[in-house]
Amino acid sequence: ATQDIGVVGMAVMGSNLALNMADHGFKVSVYNYTPDLTEKFVKERPHENITGYYDLKEFVSSLKRPRKIMFMIMAGKPVDSMIDQLIPILEAGDIIIDGGNSYFGDTRRRYDYCKDHGLHFYGMGISGGETGARRGPSIMPGGNAATYAEIQPIYEAIAAKAGDGKPCCTYIGSDGAGHYVKMVHNGIEYADMQLIAETYLLLKYTGGYTNAEISQIFHAWNQGELRSYLIGIAADIFAEDDPAGGQVLDKIADAAGQKGTGRWTSIEAMRQGVDISLITAACNARVSSNAAGRKKAQAVITAPAGQALHNPEFVEAVRQSLYLGKIVAYAQGFSLYRSASDTYDWHLDYGKIASIFRAGCIIQAEFLNKITEAYEADPALENLIFAPFFLEKINANQASLRRIISLAVQVGTPIPAFSNALAYLDAYRSECVGANLIQALRDYFGAHTFKRVDEDGTFHHNWHEHYEK
Ligand code: 6PG
Repeated sequence: ATQDIGVVGMAVMGSNLALNMADHGFKVSVYNYTPDLTEKFVKERPHENITGYYDLKEFVSSLKRPRKIMFMIMAGKPVDSMIDQLIPILEAGDIIIDGGNSYFGDTRRRYDYCKDHGLHFYGMGISGGETGARRGPSIMPGGNAATYAEIQPIYEAIAAKAGDGKPCCTYIGSDGAGHYVKMVHNGIEYADMQLIAETYLLLKYTGGYTNAEISQIFHAWNQGELRSYLIGIAADIFAEDDPAGGQVLDKIADAAGQKGTGRWTSIEAMRQGVDISLITAACNARVSSNAAGRKKAQAVITAPAGQALHNPEFVEAVRQSLYLGKIVAYAQGFSLYRSASDTYDWHLDYGKIASIFRAGCIIQAEFLNKITEAYEADPALENLIFAPFFLEKINANQASLRRIISLAVQVGTPIPAFSNALAYLDAYRSECVGANLIQALRDYFGAHTFKRVDEDGTFHHNWHEHYEK
């Protein structure tokens, strides 16, 4: 056996990752469930370090022990089926790595299942799309810590490198931790994209700016603290002409798709009891963009007669609001990490997680350095909003966010992510959030008891029931 690693699944991500590994000097065996993709790949993109296999046993035999087999196949049943095909032909100590967007609960189950068969299973989050896979993605491996050293050199070599040269790959934690971190990354990705979409709406409809002007504004923003992959590609999109005339963006149907990993994040946050309202608002915005009644509502619900506001101060207020929105989105995502770390006993290192998002992945941004610094300064930070750097930004930018939201409300521009960012901060900041009344109501109708501000203990009040049902 001569080969360092085997890749199963020769679709876009698998083939590009195999080439990336091969470029870094690793000998790679490739295999696909159907032979056609393997044939096409080795014929059209030949590489001296890559060998195609058409028989699973031969593919496995080609690998040095402990064998390392990476899946880049569709999440769900295909992963279970491939594991079951491999179990009889692998040997104790061999390693299976699932690089797809698998649900972390499935990864936890597969980790135990493989362990029962003497195998090590890694669930690996991979972000960066096709270009990332080929040139360097952000990599989030979860699984057995003791054997991680077996796969570490390959993944650190192929990962993106951050500005300081460090690879965007770090061991995350046991069983499903890697896929969990990727899932929440995608929730943040949804939030980032929704904030950008709302920024576009604000500039276009509340501010009256053209796509070309918005492109210029985004280009300028991308030179400063908002510098990020998504802002950069959005700037390109605003400037893209359609060969049929006009601009591509204006020709794209206003209804968002999704494969669901962002939604998993919201469902999981509900289970954990963590408020990620901005991320959930981003999921809901995608859902409601597809609502059957949108055309009808346009005709029957009167639009407000607001005045657009077109000036540089407005643009700057939007910029500040976007930055503040990002702070809240990450604060929420990282709060979920914190809760999950306890629930699943993963000992997540939040600073390291932020550091591997600095390059390669879809949410890569200048901003991530600040999160890493915040957790390095205080690993026990209860919420990112309390890091001195972010606290200062919150206080400096909140007036802009309030102003932007009230303008948007008057003009009728829907900005649920921005609104949730402010609601989240106000709920933290307010002296009273009305929970005293919730407790009183619960105690009134169900004797659920409450705590008092002036005395320790648990109390029930004999309410004077005047209300007649
Ligand atoms: C990444 C992305 C990627 C994801 C797409 C599509 O980090 O490279 O998160 O893994 O599949 O962005 O996701 P949706 O179809 O749910 O938008």
